[in-house]
Amino acid sequence: MSVKVVYQSRGGHVREIAEIIGEGVEAEPISIDDPRAKIDEPVDVLFIGGAIYKFKLDPSLVDYIRNLDADKVGMAICFGSSATTRRPIYMIQEQLKAKGIEVGPMGLYMRGKPKPYLREIGAPWAKREYDKYMKKIQEGTLGQEEAPIVTMIKAAEEKKKKKVAQVESEVAAVTEEMAKKAQGASEKRKAELEKKRSELMEKKAQLERELESLENEEKAGE
Ligand SMILES: Cc1cc2nc3c(=O)[nH]c(=O)nc-3n(C[C@H](O)[C@H](O)[C@H](O)COP(=O)(O)O)c2cc1C
Repeated sequence: MSVKVVYQSRGGHVREIAEIIGEGVEAEPISIDDPRAKIDEPVDVLFIGGAIYKFKLDPSLVDYIRNLDADKVGMAICFGSSATTRRPIYMIQEQLKAKGIEVGPMGLYMRGKPKPYLREIGAPWAKREYDKYMKKIQEGTLGQEEAPIVTMIKAAEEKKKKKVAQVESEVAAVTEEMAKKAQGASEKRKAELEKKRSELMEKKAQLERELESLENEEKAGE
């Protein structure tokens, strides 16, 4: 049973998360710049973390993952930091998956500088994840679940698409009603319908923007 904690950090935030994880699994966190981060001997569980800089992972982390020998990594659990979203975890997971390395669905994310409470929850989290995956490795049941970060985005996208379709049909119904009632309808009723239609159009545009941003979020992780 072996575990390794490696990280990429420019300003120290990810290093702090790595230290907390290291406490939980009793392993020394090693920067990917340190030659000891290289994986020569097989590792069952690899904790690996990094941050986002100008919308991307640090190139050194991308290189590190590219140079990993997939046969020497049982599975990986990701952690990371950024100023805004959980994207670093998602991006690291994608890079690992592209190498054919199994990734744990959950990641440890902290926005900006780790808060004091992270120490309380982070170390036990790492230990729990490690124990859970060691058990799966021993039972041979690893790889039977989909990463929820990905699933979450996909589920949100599906929901949004349904809403767009619903609003579209409402717009169509109101437009039809307007056409039917155009003759003979009072000015008040016409104005009401027009107002409703423009509200629906605005709602539809908003939903489409949200849908687009979800799609972009997915693309950014590729
Ligand atoms: C040059 C630079 C660019 C950054 N670009 C982004 C970014 O595009 N998106 C984001 O969410 N955070 C961005 N950040 C914030 C970092 O991801 C965040 O501060 C993170 O905690 C840094 O981790 P580190 O201290 O371990 O290097 C940027 C930070 C720096 C210094």
